[in-house]
Amino acid sequence: MKILDVFVVMPNHVHGIIIINKTNGSADTTSATGNTDVETQYFASLLRIIRNEHYLLNQIRNIHLISQSKNGIPYTIKIILVQECEELMKNILVTGGCGFIGTNFIRYLLLEAGFTGKIINADKLTYAGNPQNLCDIAEKFPKQYIFVKADISDIKAISSIFADHKIDTICHFAAESHVDRSITQPGAFIKTNIIGTYNLLELFRKNSDKMVLFHHVSTDEVYGSLGNEGFFTENTAYKPSSPYSASKASSDHLVRAYSITYGLPVTISNSSNNYGPYQFPEKLVPVIIRNALRRKPIPVYGDGQNIRDWLFVKDHCKAIWTVMQKGVRGKTYNIGGACEKQNIHVVKTICNILDDMIPLVSGKGPRTDLITFVKDRPGHDRRYGIDFSKLKNELAWTPKESFETGMKKTIEWYLANQRWAGINS
Ligand SMILES: NC(=O)c1ccc[n+]([C@@H]2O[C@H](COP(=O)([O-])OP(=O)(O)OC[C@H]3O[C@@H](n4cnc5c(N)ncnc54)[C@H](O)[C@@H]3O)[C@@H](O)[C@H]2O)c1
Repeated sequence: MKILDVFVVMPNHVHGIIIINKTNGSADTTSATGNTDVETQYFASLLRIIRNEHYLLNQIRNIHLISQSKNGIPYTIKIILVQECEELMKNILVTGGCGFIGTNFIRYLLLEAGFTGKIINADKLTYAGNPQNLCDIAEKFPKQYIFVKADISDIKAISSIFADHKIDTICHFAAESHVDRSITQPGAFIKTNIIGTYNLLELFRKNSDKMVLFHHVSTDEVYGSLGNEGFFTENTAYKPSSPYSASKASSDHLVRAYSITYGLPVTISNSSNNYGPYQFPEKLVPVIIRNALRRKPIPVYGDGQNIRDWLFVKDHCKAIWTVMQKGVRGKTYNIGGACEKQNIHVVKTICNILDDMIPLVSGKGPRTDLITFVKDRPGHDRRYGIDFSKLKNELAWTPKESFETGMKKTIEWYLANQRWAGINS
């Protein structure tokens, strides 16, 4: 059992010490006494927060109590940690790092965010994982980036990664992620999304004295479908419609339950639809780009009026890193793009951008002529709309890219990487 000290200070004076038991998050009141009634009340309320919210050491940094006492004396309580959470994240296990968002996340951490620790990317390399996505990263950061081919549903394989690389943090992307595939082959979704997450949680629990954070990457699809009004908040009840969203919902429940039952430091994020570079060409946006370029029919489900909130993938990666650094442990954050669009609008926008970028050959109509409505998929949710005000207000994150700028960047990337996307094959 590891005991760590947290000092509660007022300007220039140490007024008390709260001993946090890192194993179970309990706090000892005995040394947490103040000199005045007001101080004592503050200590008491701090301890209440710590107990009620299952805070562990690295969560405490998120409490900023800055206040004025009733008698008018400027009164500030800050909590100073022996070590900061970010400094503690030295060896991050990224699962599914060869997929769409995982690739973008690893690239963001190493190329832009200035992360100085190690990233261990564990990926099974299913059809959706492409190790080529990170070849340049492996060359440029040989000491910081390590790839291990591993299946998260194989506990032995994951255990040895924990042992070999002294993992202290997990950012969990690995999943079967395509709704259409979940309708025809749900078994793979149960195995990876539920059993795989359970395996990671068990290892995290068994090594909890060394663990800093388990961040679980999830989706807004767990909330089900909305009517014309309203938004998903972090308190919306789960109502998944597809085997994919049901398996993600199960994994979210497991992560939350492990946090509550075992006092483990976890964060969860539920994001809306992503688009951007490196998305496997079976998903809507790359399919539209590929077919529009090859002048093949562009399939659109049903009447095309299903609404999704669209988020540029780099904005998602920044949001995840923000939550990992500053998010309150045990909490969930919705991530959105403030960008609800009907599918048909997405298709037409991409066709129009391509028509502007690549002039049409004479005799050929605009690319929107290629739009072909196809039979709707079963259980197709009508509308997703996400309220991410918690992330915006508490952690100061907002998406930077508009739909138009993000989509232009995405199309430019696919044009420059046509072989990757199988466009010119
Ligand atoms: N794409 C989106 O719009 C979106 C939106 C919200 C949340 N998410 C979530 O983000 C995460 C990543 O999504 P994505 O779009 O990058 O998915 P993806 O399908 O592009 O990539 C998934 C990656 O996980 C790997 N993988 C699959 N099964 C594995 C296993 N058993 N063991 C180890 N690795 C395995 C694959 O090889 C692949 O590299 C998922 O958890 C998904 O639910 C995605």
